[in-house]
Amino acid sequence: MRQKRIGWRSGTGIRKQGRSNKSKHNWGRPRVVDTILETEGLTKEFRGFAAVSDVRLEVARGSIHGLIGPNGAGKTTCFNLLTKFLPPTRGVIRYDGRDITGLKPAEVARLGLVRSFQISAVFPHLTVLENVRLALQRRRGGSFDFWRSEGLLKQFDDRAMALLEDVGLTGYARLTAGQLPYGRKRALEIATTLALDPVMMLLDEPTAGMTHEDVDRIVALVKRVAAGRTVLLVEHNLKVVEGLCDTITVLTRGRVLAQGDYATVSRNPEVQAAYLGTDPAIAGSTQHA
Ligand SMILES: Nc1ncnc2c1ncn2[C@@H]1O[C@H](COP(=O)(O)OP(=O)(O)O)[C@@H](O)[C@H]1O
Ligand SMILES: [Mg+2]
Repeated sequence: MRQKRIGWRSGTGIRKQGRSNKSKHNWGRPRVVDTILETEGLTKEFRGFAAVSDVRLEVARGSIHGLIGPNGAGKTTCFNLLTKFLPPTRGVIRYDGRDITGLKPAEVARLGLVRSFQISAVFPHLTVLENVRLALQRRRGGSFDFWRSEGLLKQFDDRAMALLEDVGLTGYARLTAGQLPYGRKRALEIATTLALDPVMMLLDEPTAGMTHEDVDRIVALVKRVAAGRTVLLVEHNLKVVEGLCDTITVLTRGRVLAQGDYATVSRNPEVQAAYLGTDPAIAGSTQHA
């Protein structure tokens, strides 16, 4: 299936707010980029097929960094490598100055590198409030024996309500997670991720399957939670990417095709070819769902 012609070059209603371009005011000093996450030669092969191939990624601290590319480009595999759900075939991953290539998922999560929608499972039969409370308890190294520690969990109520307010779910606190409309469920997932107090958040397609109204709300939410954090975002909706991302890395067939800000990347003919399906080889790779 071809990617839809969305986004490139078009003006959009989503605008960056309050995220000034810091490099504009460096007062003549050499510009030092503070990299929080970097990979070198990152490669993942599945039975000889390279889903991710020799990827060099550099994510600046405090930025919103987009990882985009056609279906099958290797974006989710990249996320799985970064959060240690998959071991790389080759390559190095450094986070906050340390080599995390050999760590386990829980270990990288404790270092503040947290992926939404996976580590932060949402339990449909628990209420919205209970879900966030539980996530707060887990962060303290607690287990799942919440049925025995109702009193202890009450301590987390204030913090949980504050997090629900952050994601616009105050009025939904007593509903079960299963009763939430789809867009609100993603907001709850972000709240349970925030409960882990991430330094860097990885979001895999936070607006997938959403209505326009929900998309706008999630965009505003991501902007808000990105304050004081680093966000790495996989996103199909190029308007969302344009509105949110400071830097974009484009993957195709497991490799980095281009990197830069939206204006630069969107002018790149190879990127346009990959997105508009004018390159038969790359268009073919979009058939992976
Ligand atoms: N566990 C796996 N085993 C074999 N092939 C896989 C596996 N996971 C992903 N792939 C393949 O790797 C490529 C990249 O997949 P993925 O990372 O999911 O792409 P994206 O998220 O960019 O759509 C695809 O061709 C996919 O079929
Ligand atoms: Mg994917």
